[in-house]
This record gives sequence, structure tokens and C-alpha cells, in this order.
Amino acid sequence: MSQHTAVTLKQDVYRFVANVEEEDIDLFEGIWPIPHGISMNSYFVQGEKGALIDLVCAWEGTPVKVLDQMKEKSFSVKDVHYAVLNHMEPDHTGFLPLLMEKNPEITVVCTEKAAKLVKSFYNIDRIMTVKSGDSLDLGDGKVLHFQEIPNVHWPETMVTYESQSRILFTCDAFGGFGSIEDAIFDDQLNEGQKKFYYDESLRYYVDIVGAFSTFVLRAIDKVASLNLPIDIIAPAHGIIYRKNPMEIVERYKKFATYMEGPCEKEITLVWSSMYGNTEKLVQTIIDGVRSENVDINIFRVPQDHSSYILPAAYRSSALILGMPTYEYKMFPPMAYTIDMFGRKHVYNKKVLRFGSYGWSGGAQKEFEELVEKWKLKWTMVDPIEWEGSPTEATHRKAFEAAAALAREVKQMAAVH
Ligand code: FEO
Repeated sequence: MSQHTAVTLKQDVYRFVANVEEEDIDLFEGIWPIPHGISMNSYFVQGEKGALIDLVCAWEGTPVKVLDQMKEKSFSVKDVHYAVLNHMEPDHTGFLPLLMEKNPEITVVCTEKAAKLVKSFYNIDRIMTVKSGDSLDLGDGKVLHFQEIPNVHWPETMVTYESQSRILFTCDAFGGFGSIEDAIFDDQLNEGQKKFYYDESLRYYVDIVGAFSTFVLRAIDKVASLNLPIDIIAPAHGIIYRKNPMEIVERYKKFATYMEGPCEKEITLVWSSMYGNTEKLVQTIIDGVRSENVDINIFRVPQDHSSYILPAAYRSSALILGMPTYEYKMFPPMAYTIDMFGRKHVYNKKVLRFGSYGWSGGAQKEFEELVEKWKLKWTMVDPIEWEGSPTEATHRKAFEAAAALAREVKQMAAVH
């Protein structure tokens, strides 16, 4: 099956996909690497009237992929009566001006908050606003029901449930990075693909949705309280869940819970070095953690991208951060990393810091200020700092501190 093929989810419900690759846009949201691409799923529900739910971006060649797949199923834009926008962000709405140009009779369906943005982004005012509990009868038994889920991923978001097919269309919620090729549904994934999409869903979660974990839990509770029979969860990015739709819901719950803990019994080490003196302690630290048989994820900044550091740090019970003093403050790439931890809510960690200084200290002071500024709720272990090159005593101290931290991690509450 080619990558861009229309798929029937249930009778008269279809998925169209546009994969966006790294060479198309370089960085998703202008910041996150997508070496394996990202998919934009768009869904078409055909009653007496047709509704296109969640669109695609406007990036080069993307809308035409959807138009071609509509043709495959013998539809055209003339069959679209409603464009349902669960979320207004341009990766799901960039297609809207072209769609409306081809069929000006289409009515946009979205929340009140989204309507304001549809007007300001696209100067479109043929809009029907909906709120939680509203429904839209498409005829032939197809009825769309709307539920607002604010801040998953922006304040105007909602989900749409089609009651005959029992499909929940969730847009950003339950999505992930990674293009979709021959395996489209959860039951088609081999073990390697399962791991790949799991990891990419966590990276997507922390990079894109991580700052909104409280709202994710609230949205899950809200939709669960409706007791909807759900056969399929159909996100706008990534795999579609039909074998066990609740699996992705539970997975997202677990991801959201990492913010307050419990987390995984592992440690993430992020280190940086100017002339190699902080680097001299890195292997000792790693050896200390491994002496207790605790897993350690290792990153160096600025060499490694925060997109990969964030999910590892977010799911870990403890962090070890290595940085020298630089001009009386922290080594700047590490200051950026702490800033990202704050923005993406890498909270409630046990943290050990180590690093060298020369002419003056200062890194520790700025480090403590940043932790306070971002209200990271970290519990600090005594830092390991030294002037110049580390001595044998410094190595012994670092090994013991890392091993002690690993022992603590082993004692922490297990993740569910
Ligand atoms: Fe996939 Fe928040 O956009």
C-alpha cells in the first residue's frame, strides 16, 4: 500500500493522510526535529451531508495529497458540507482557504474560541460555533457530537464523536510523531513499530503537549464521564487505535502522571563541558549509577537536541546535570536546557549537579535561581563542584553520590 492511500475506517467513514517529512519542513513547529516525519490525518464522514474532520497543513504538496485520496473514494470537495475543526493550529487548518476556495458553500464547525481565530488567520466567517453537548446530524444515521477539551493542545480545542460508527476524533490528543506507511492501525504494528510509535508518542507528548498535562487528565476524565462506547480513537497525528482504543488513553494518562510522579526507575544525565574538566567526571558518574543496575539515559548539550532530552528527563525519577561555570554563571546551553525543563514541566525530580570552575564559581547560584524561577519542585542532592581538574577524592565522591542517587531511585514508588 502506498503511503498516501485513503482507508475506510467504518462504513462511510474514511481516513485521508498527508505525511510530512523532514525535508519538507525541517523542524515541526519550527523547533522539533522530525527525522521520521509526522502524519496529518483527516477524516471524512459521509451522511446525507459530508463532514471533513481535522484538515491538514498548507505545506508544499500536502493539500493535494488529501484531494487525490478523496478522488480515490469517488468524492470531491463538493461533497464536503462541513469542515469540522477540532483544533485551530495551522497544521490542521492550513488547508482551509484552498478548501473554501474550491467549495465556498462549506460551513466551518468549531468552538467559539476557534471561530475568532478562523476569522483572524483566514478571514473566513462562514462558521457554525458549537460547545460541549452540541451535535450535528449529517443524515443517514451519522451524527457528530462535540465535547470541548480546552488546552489539549490550545484553549479552543474539542473532540468530535460520531455515534453510529462509534469513532472518537481527537486531533492532537493521543497523537505522535512518525510518518504512517503500511501499518495504519494499532493491530497492524509489529514489535519494532510498536516500540517506535510508543517512543515517538512520548517525544510528541512532552515536546508538544507536556505543558498541558493537567488539562490532559481533565479531558480524559471529562470524556470518560460521558460513557461513550468507543470502537476507534482517531487522532490527527499518527496511528489509529481500533484493537484496544483505551491503550492510548491509558498511555497518555501515564505520560501526564509523570509530571507529578511516580516516574520510571531510571536516571537521565545531561552534561556539558568547555575544556574537558567537567567531562572528566562523566564516566565516573555513569559507573556510579550502573553499579546499582539502574538505567541511565545520557545526553550532552548543546550537541543533543532538547526534543530528545525532554522525554527522557520527563519520565525519569532523577536527573544528574553536569555543567561548568561560564562567565560567573551556568554554561549557557545548560541554562537553555533548564529553561526547557521549566516550559515543559519536568517537575518533581531528585537532582544531582556537578561541574568544574576556574577563576570564579557562579554556576551553582544561577542553577538554584533557575530551579526556583521555574518552580521545578526538584529535591537537590549536595552538588559536586571543584576547581580545575577533579582529584581522586572528587571521583570517589561523585561515584558515591551517583550510586546513592541510583539506590534512592530503586526505592521510589513504581510507575503504574
Ligand atoms: Fe497538531 Fe496543536 O497541532
